[in-house]
Amino acid sequence: MTQTLTITSPDDWHLHLRDGAMLKGVLPETVRDFGRAIIMPNLVPPVVAGAQAAEYRGRILAAMPSGADFTPLMTLYLTETTDADDVAAAHASGLITAVKLYPAGATTNSDSGVANFDKVQGVLERMAEIGLPLCVHGEVTDPSVDIFDREAVFIDRVLDPLRRRVPDLKVVMEHITTADGVAYVLSQDERLGATITTHHLIINRNDLLVGGIKPHYYCLPIAKREEHRVALVEAATSGDARFFLGTDSAPHSDPTKESACGCAGVFSSTNTMSCLAHVFENANALDKLERFASLNGPAFYGLPTNSSKITLIKQADPVGFPEKIHTEVGDVTVFDPGFPLHWTTS
Ligand code: NCD
Ligand code: ZN
Repeated sequence: MTQTLTITSPDDWHLHLRDGAMLKGVLPETVRDFGRAIIMPNLVPPVVAGAQAAEYRGRILAAMPSGADFTPLMTLYLTETTDADDVAAAHASGLITAVKLYPAGATTNSDSGVANFDKVQGVLERMAEIGLPLCVHGEVTDPSVDIFDREAVFIDRVLDPLRRRVPDLKVVMEHITTADGVAYVLSQDERLGATITTHHLIINRNDLLVGGIKPHYYCLPIAKREEHRVALVEAATSGDARFFLGTDSAPHSDPTKESACGCAGVFSSTNTMSCLAHVFENANALDKLERFASLNGPAFYGLPTNSSKITLIKQADPVGFPEKIHTEVGDVTVFDPGFPLHWTTS
């Protein structure tokens, strides 16, 4: 018997669309299933001012496949020279939905990120006043901290002190990868939310490193031990309103991943909903998928849920997904969960 599941259309609360030919190549992969997405501002140069966000939004809308019903939710990249008035104006006009904090040097294109948090205190206070959320890449960049510990150390050294200094600020701890991240979110009130990616629900560090290095599983934050993956699945499938989907789908062309110094980023837009249905079904929690992918995010951001619905269908034969998306700037490998997928959204 065919199994189907109809849910409110999902949103992606953390997405990299890039620009130009890459944007054109990957955007159709998101708009197929998702109603909205929080668009990351780490372009080169980064989207730091309202005027740049407006232009970037225009380029995304221009690249939209015909007939698509998709709203990009824009963000600004926080720097030590960000102007609080510019942020407030971009928020008041409805242009931006969040501001993104990258610790300087934490990940791809994060050189303009924040090193001295005193310098952004004024902007953060203003954001708290106007109810504009801060999305945080939660890893320290101290070279003496092991890459597998950088999220846990960030909570103690940066995130918790920052939240104490601006208690009313709404914060999203993005792409959490550890049991420590889950525990911290659960210990706080509803002003702190967290996104979880598709791939961190599926792969651990063995998948990345055992039997040969797998560049297409390399992302930041890096995948952790299995016990952490299990904690993430428990959080995502619990239905707790503080956890929601942010794929962190981050396209890089194959030559830049399959390299002596490969870029960080997993591209999962194409098959995320199939992967999630698999994970939630395995956890006996298909009834919680809608909360994680479609309801908890809008509730945190104070936005309405999508009015459209999507239907997931489970078929007996594995669903065929393309191995790569072809773009004018090269092929982008689609996330391989490592098991056959039986759920489809078409
Ligand atoms: C992202 C990218 O490629 O822009 N990479 C990643 O591994 N997640 C940057 C980021 O969000 O960390
Ligand atoms: Zn990201």
